[in-house]
Amino acid sequence: MAALKYTVRLMTKDDVPEALEVWSETGMQEASHCLYTWLEVDKDAFNIAVTDSGKVIAVCAAVFHHPDFAFVGLYCCLERYRGRGIGKKVWDACMEHIGTRNAGLDAVPGTLELYRDKGGFPIVETRWTCVMYETENPINHEALSEQVPSEVSIEPFQDAFLPAMAEYDLALVGFDRKLALGLNCKESGSKTLVAFEGGKCVGFGTIKTSCHRCRQVGPLYADDAAVAEVMLKRLIVSFPTAKGLAILTISTNSPANSLLKKIGCPVTEEYIRLYRKEKMEVDTNKVFAQWDLNFCPH
Ligand SMILES: CC(C)(COP(=O)(O)OP(=O)(O)OC[C@H]1O[C@@H](n2cnc3c(N)ncnc32)[C@H](O)[C@@H]1OP(=O)(O)O)[C@@H](O)C(=O)NCCC(=O)NCCS
Repeated sequence: MAALKYTVRLMTKDDVPEALEVWSETGMQEASHCLYTWLEVDKDAFNIAVTDSGKVIAVCAAVFHHPDFAFVGLYCCLERYRGRGIGKKVWDACMEHIGTRNAGLDAVPGTLELYRDKGGFPIVETRWTCVMYETENPINHEALSEQVPSEVSIEPFQDAFLPAMAEYDLALVGFDRKLALGLNCKESGSKTLVAFEGGKCVGFGTIKTSCHRCRQVGPLYADDAAVAEVMLKRLIVSFPTAKGLAILTISTNSPANSLLKKIGCPVTEEYIRLYRKEKMEVDTNKVFAQWDLNFCPH
């Protein structure tokens, strides 16, 4: 077999559709427009392998959320090019981007040893796992409550809400993601709801279309499970054309997992969180859906 000629380089906006295609081939979900968001947050985050004929065959991302913490994901290589050292090259380019700083990732089944023992992510989150719920079939969202707790109002996103949302998000994750939040709420076709109590943001949730044409919900954060439930129902109802549902919860957030059970959305996989240096602390009771699988710690 003739040696394949390819280069590893930074991904640009023009490469996004092809890079997402490489990920779609794995069968896993990701929002169809979120790569633009994360590329804008960190323009050096994505590395791709491109053949001399211009085809994108592998991709990996390491997005900096603040100067000392990156999240690694979207690591994949087209199946027919695997086992030739190509994936590892895009991975290495991302590791160079991170340098010696801390980073996290979610290991899909069968990859824990790879990252923990060979990839430099030895710290295993043992308190919880990420639970992927996914179906292309209709879901029973009618079973969800429409009862908004008194004093709470749930409003469609508008720019003026961003400071309050960013304040909520900062208190939850510990670093400022205002830029990412604003871009997330304006992603093509996405819809975001924001919950307020006494003028203060008490949660928010976004729904988008995934690369496999499913509804994808995330982030979904709330102080109160009753508020998360109503937001989940309203988000799903607002997206009548996409199929089923894809949503990533945290195993220890029982109310979140109960909501998914209630609407008949099945668990498909569990992912294990790994870190390079130290675990990230967050109140997981408020995280009803992780933002996404590939780019965010929560
Ligand atoms: C994971 C994946 C990207 C690897 O790509 P690949 O091109 O097949 O891998 P390579 O040929 O570059 O691997 C070469 C060597 O580097 C190792 N390697 C690959 N990725 C590595 C990593 N992140 N850290 C350390 N070593 C790694 C491999 O184990 C292999 O070692 P070996 O020669 O001792 O067997 C590819 O298998 C894939 O797309 N899988 C499906 C998607 C997926 O599961 N992604 C992970 C999401 S968490």
